[in-house]
Amino acid sequence: MSLYTSGIQKYSLPNDSLTNQLIDSIIKATSEYTDKSFISGLDHIHDFVDDNELNEYRLSIIQKLNYNQFASKLIFSHCKEILTSILGPDIAIQKNVGLSIQMPNDSSSLLPIHSDVFSSDCSPYELVIWIPLVKCYKTKSMFYLPFDHCSSLHEYLHLLSSNNISSIDEFQSKFQNNYKFLEITPPSFALFYHSIWHGNVINCEPETRWSINLRVKGLFTPYKGKQIGDYFTIAQISDATKLSSLIDEIYYDS
Ligand SMILES: [Fe+2]
Repeated sequence: MSLYTSGIQKYSLPNDSLTNQLIDSIIKATSEYTDKSFISGLDHIHDFVDDNELNEYRLSIIQKLNYNQFASKLIFSHCKEILTSILGPDIAIQKNVGLSIQMPNDSSSLLPIHSDVFSSDCSPYELVIWIPLVKCYKTKSMFYLPFDHCSSLHEYLHLLSSNNISSIDEFQSKFQNNYKFLEITPPSFALFYHSIWHGNVINCEPETRWSINLRVKGLFTPYKGKQIGDYFTIAQISDATKLSSLIDEIYYDS
């Protein structure tokens, strides 16, 4: 599994600090939401929160995670060495994280197979950071079709047209035996190109899935619908860029 050949790769963090801080914040928000002071673990949140209030609950947690860009800043601070080695020193990151909570047998949180490069206004320069907050495996995780399912990236990106596929159901029945479920345990995280075909199915495991996702890209790479300042913010800027922009401001603007 490599970012450049499969489109997805797992990375290890040296300790649990990132996961623990995210989980602590979620447990605190959950205690406020449920009025119960003890949560036995995110895996078993379905014992505390009814599935019919999942959406309201998820929104309350997301609000907490995104307050003052808490989660986005925290994630960047823990992952910046790895991200810098991939994207270079000038980096833009999504301001607000996304959160998946998939309770066992819940059919309301399904994400059918899709590739963001076709079905959204995302720039192809975006990478997705995927952070598990619990052990994710089998149907308690996302699935994906790796780039190296095809002999070339060109072939992969033309899977729909070259197979005359006109619907997602058709895609599903043709390729579902080739899907791989991401098996990942904190404090590891995954990075993937959003052009990879991915999605989720009903969680048939006895535990709830929790994962956070957010997008990251080179600051000066092309944008599409998701713009800097609006959707993305500057996460890190190099000394060279800082100095150059100062020269630009002082000399050329005067
Ligand atoms: Fe997606």
